[in-house]
Amino acid sequence: MFNANRYDAMRYRRCGSSGLRLPEISLGLWHNFGERADHDNCRAMLRTAFDLGICHFDLANNYGPGPGSAEERFGTILQQDFKAHRDELIISTKAGYYMWPGPYGEWGSKKYLVASLDQSLQRMGLEYVDVFYSHRPDPDTPLEETIGALDLIVRQGKALYAGVSSYRGPLFIQAAELTRQRNWTPITLHQPRYSMLDRWIETDLLEHTDAYGTGVIVFSPLEQGVLTGKYLDPDNPIPKGSRAADPDGFLRPEQVTEQKIAKARTLNGYAKKRGQSLAQMALAWTLRDPRVTSAIIGARNPEQIQECVAALENAQFTPAECAAIDEIAPQ
Ligand SMILES: NC(=O)c1ccc[n+]([C@@H]2O[C@H](COP(=O)([O-])OP(=O)(O)OC[C@H]3O[C@@H](n4cnc5c(N)ncnc54)[C@H](OP(=O)(O)O)[C@@H]3O)[C@@H](O)[C@H]2O)c1
Repeated sequence: MFNANRYDAMRYRRCGSSGLRLPEISLGLWHNFGERADHDNCRAMLRTAFDLGICHFDLANNYGPGPGSAEERFGTILQQDFKAHRDELIISTKAGYYMWPGPYGEWGSKKYLVASLDQSLQRMGLEYVDVFYSHRPDPDTPLEETIGALDLIVRQGKALYAGVSSYRGPLFIQAAELTRQRNWTPITLHQPRYSMLDRWIETDLLEHTDAYGTGVIVFSPLEQGVLTGKYLDPDNPIPKGSRAADPDGFLRPEQVTEQKIAKARTLNGYAKKRGQSLAQMALAWTLRDPRVTSAIIGARNPEQIQECVAALENAQFTPAECAAIDEIAPQ
């Protein structure tokens, strides 16, 4: 049984000019859902998220470790707990990174994208995903082949909406123009990285996605955990149980630099003044621009999800607060 009031507290934003609305906070399965993860904890995270109104789960073919195992686990949990709720869920997956050997196992060819999505559907036990993304730009495949493959996949009914991830502004414009010229499925969602420590979308993307009616769902809003309280203790700079301490984690200890931590310490002081944790302030901050549709968090346990969702209770920023943050973490 799920919380009957799960849609009451969460806010939902329209994704560009589409009919799709997404929760302001979404949950991604990049870390902590792979083959070595604790199944009951994975289940508890997904159930907690859904109970809090998070009805969007973000995956990719390669999430693990090993590659594909997060989709497999998600498929098992869907079967166990969410069978009756498929129509309430927005499930996304992607293809772009390495999955199998040979010339068709990564990047952006039609061959790879179509085959990969078929594999993802099988792993998750789904007939279709809600959003399918080109996970990264491919410098060698013609853009029209990649974007044409997204259109094909949607027309085949294997995905409802098309998305791109990590395309810089000019490439996004080319892709969006192609869909218009060829009467192809529009790009409903763009998934870029965005946090106080990585603000490229403010100058190179948001005006373009806005102009084409494309929604923006940002990833790593907590900078993989650097914008939380956990790395701030000088006596214990990489605490046990953190992503940077996890050999499977994509955040390496050397990426937790003194410079970033100095910023995080100051920002932590600002968060305290607002009466929230650094994680909560960092997350709320990514949502201050209405052109951002949703922020995808990752989590290690259900408590982190609860803390992140509580960020929405205090999500307004005064001009003075924004200016102070800009000083520490400029564009
Ligand atoms: N399109 C792409 O190329 C791409 C790339 C990366 C990610 N993504 C998507 O974005 C999702 C989120 O990325 P991310 O995991 O890097 O996001 P993130 O939210 O920046 O970092 C998540 C990590 O922060 C820590 N955390 C979360 N809530 C916390 C809290 N309340 N208090 C303290 N620590 C907290 C946890 O790390 P600890 O383990 O240290 O506790 C958690 O695993 C991914 O799952 C994936 O779906 C997409």
